[in-house]
Amino acid sequence: MEKGNYTLTLIKPYAVQHGFVGPILARINGAGFRISAMKYLQLSLEQSQAFYQVHRGKPFYERLCKFMASGPIVAAILEKPGAVDDYRRLIGATDPKQADEGTLRKLFGRSIESNAVHGSDSDDNAERESNFFFSLLERF
Ligand code: CMP
Repeated sequence: MEKGNYTLTLIKPYAVQHGFVGPILARINGAGFRISAMKYLQLSLEQSQAFYQVHRGKPFYERLCKFMASGPIVAAILEKPGAVDDYRRLIGATDPKQADEGTLRKLFGRSIESNAVHGSDSDDNAERESNFFFSLLERF
């Protein structure tokens, strides 16, 4: 898998609990991404804090980490040329209220904290975040 051609997504606890995994994955497929790795898991608080370490110290950090460890999530590596930017367009703005119509966060998000999905914000973070969730043996 070549850097620049993949991104990491998380379907967050609220979206999982409300039955949005299927509809979200269908839209990801429809937008032309190939799922090259996927798992269903629940993070511990420590793992959640480690994943979001770049946000440590921000006012929302503790609540975000607790929320992300509150229930099962889906983690997946999505492959497509220009994946990071294309996926960010598909998911829309961080705050569902600001997100464009038809974006995943508009369709399935509840609030800025519980915004349905995460998507890597750079190729470097896509690499770091993919390595956090998946070993080479788990990528196809
Ligand atoms: P995500 O893409 O998972 O990356 C970091 C998360 O922090 C982001 O989505 C939001 O859920 C959350 N976040 C970012 N900014 C804020 C904010 N101002 N208030 C609350 N949560 C935020």
